[in-house]
Amino acid sequence: MIDLRSWLFIPGDSEKKLAKADSTGADALIFDLEDSVAPENKARGRDLVAGLLADRPQEARTSQLWVRINPLDSGMVLDDLVAVVAAAPDGVMLPKCGGPADIAQLSFYLDALEAQAGLAAGSIAILPVATETAAAPFTLGDYAKVPAARLAGLTWGAEDLAAALGASTNLDPAGGWALTYRTVRTLTLLGAKAAGVQAVDTLYVDFRDEAGLRASSRASRAEGFTGRLAIHPAQVAAINESYLPNAGEVAFAERVVAAFDAAGGAGTVGLDGRMLDIPHLKQARAVLAKVGAYGG
Ligand code: COA
Ligand code: MG
Repeated sequence: MIDLRSWLFIPGDSEKKLAKADSTGADALIFDLEDSVAPENKARGRDLVAGLLADRPQEARTSQLWVRINPLDSGMVLDDLVAVVAAAPDGVMLPKCGGPADIAQLSFYLDALEAQAGLAAGSIAILPVATETAAAPFTLGDYAKVPAARLAGLTWGAEDLAAALGASTNLDPAGGWALTYRTVRTLTLLGAKAAGVQAVDTLYVDFRDEAGLRASSRASRAEGFTGRLAIHPAQVAAINESYLPNAGEVAFAERVVAAFDAAGGAGTVGLDGRMLDIPHLKQARAVLAKVGAYGG
């Protein structure tokens, strides 16, 4: 599966915001049934989201359409899933995920509901928010040990973790993430890569600060994250651009592929006085595939 760059939340009970679903340009929309929807509006949110999904069969979708359900221990998960699975969301985001065992439990629910709805087994992917409790970060290395075909990536969140820790802030005095949040962010990146799935960075809170979002997203991509969460449509274009290879990287990838082509099957070639071997070729092909997929 191609990495999805921008993952835009839309509150599941807001008809006004849901009406923007076809025009955001996001690679994925996440219709939220969790914390942006008050308890008394959950049922209405489920109806709105299910209707919106049903009106957009998979082949007609301009973005992948995901649903953030409520946490497994909320008592609301089965109601959420029963409402939306039959309308074939591309994936489900699991908040407050405690680790691979929670992915397995959600997968069992999806196995049953996909069968009931006549959907292909395993067609609905899962993206956990994998750092929202004090215990969850200790399991980030375990996603690599437990095969989970539905796992599309790992992402992290700083707000709920701060609440879980009784912290008065998640920032350091200079305004960056405090050490605890930098730590879980790094572990999310490592855990995702170890599991062979996409590392999705958390949201950039100040949605009016486009320059800051771009700088933060470029730095995030340079570290290995391949996309990030968004909360406002104005963030989508900056994220989509920031997580694409830049012009210099594309030009270099083209030269690497050309050098291997010219070498006719050799496993190693020289370019600009440097030795290149198969991992360089793979990386160059991945750069070109991503640019090709997104028309960048
Ligand atoms: N999805 C779709 N449309 C959105 C949107 C979103 N996430 N955020 C804003 N919009 C729409 C607004 O409705 C408004 O539409 P209009 O032009 O028809 O009036 C337009 O974009 C501009 O919005 P703006 O006035 O700049 O923002 P706001 O004050 O209305 O909303 C937030 C600010 C943060 C409340 C809003 O962006 C939001 O709800 N974000 C998602 C929150 C969420 O899902 N959180 C859960 C995960 S952390
Ligand atoms: Mg939250």
